[in-house]
Amino acid sequence: MRLDVVTIFPEYLEPLNVSLVGKARARGQLDVHVHDLRAWTHDRHNTVDDTPYGGGPGMVMKTGPWGDALDTVLADGYESGSHAPALIVPTPSGRPFTQDLAVELSERPWLVFSPARYEGIDRRVMDEYATRMPVYEVSIGDYVLAGGEAAVLVVTEAVARLLPGVLGNAESHRDDSFAPGAMASLLEGPVYTKPPQWRGRDIPDVLLSGHHGKIARWRRDEALRRTTAHRPDLVARCAPGAFDKKDREM
Ligand code: ADE
Repeated sequence: MRLDVVTIFPEYLEPLNVSLVGKARARGQLDVHVHDLRAWTHDRHNTVDDTPYGGGPGMVMKTGPWGDALDTVLADGYESGSHAPALIVPTPSGRPFTQDLAVELSERPWLVFSPARYEGIDRRVMDEYATRMPVYEVSIGDYVLAGGEAAVLVVTEAVARLLPGVLGNAESHRDDSFAPGAMASLLEGPVYTKPPQWRGRDIPDVLLSGHHGKIARWRRDEALRRTTAHRPDLVARCAPGAFDKKDREM
């Protein structure tokens, strides 16, 4: 998969060299290109923003640098053999970024990210590129960050770990919170490892029982308990058939 990020803070994307994403790059599973938006400015001050039409506080990112940057990045990618780009624009006013969307994006060959600063990017930029490719405006949560770069890191990590061969154990995202399947939309319950006692705390007996059926049932009960406590909205969304009598007594 090819990733391009156009930003006024290229150094913000340095974590893309670390850990899972960094290793995926080193193995050639991810081809990452970070670009400085200011390279496409033409004035002495490298201006990327201006005051909003209609008035109001803050500044808006200008069409010119974004259009020139995206045209160059896209031409470069096509020339090196990439195809079917999608533009990802992080914004608090976007659609929620979910595991389903991470799966959808992980199936695309090429993602181009346009993280904004200030009050956002002139609307015409998204409207223009939407005539050429899918444009995903995504929000990583109901809070406002100073810019979209942190959201790029979040989306990239969620997508990269879904790529074939990136996670060590192919099973490890099967039981993820939010993964499709038997535990559909339940949060993951607690996990334990050695030693069996720590500061007077034991691990639940059932996990030592070797009884796979009982362990699976316990995990599901704990997942349901945790989801009920932290995300009752997810429990409400489960099909009624997902629960049995014992669940309803919990
Ligand atoms: N930029 C600022 N806040 C954001 C958010 N919550 N999600 C995505 N991009 C953002």
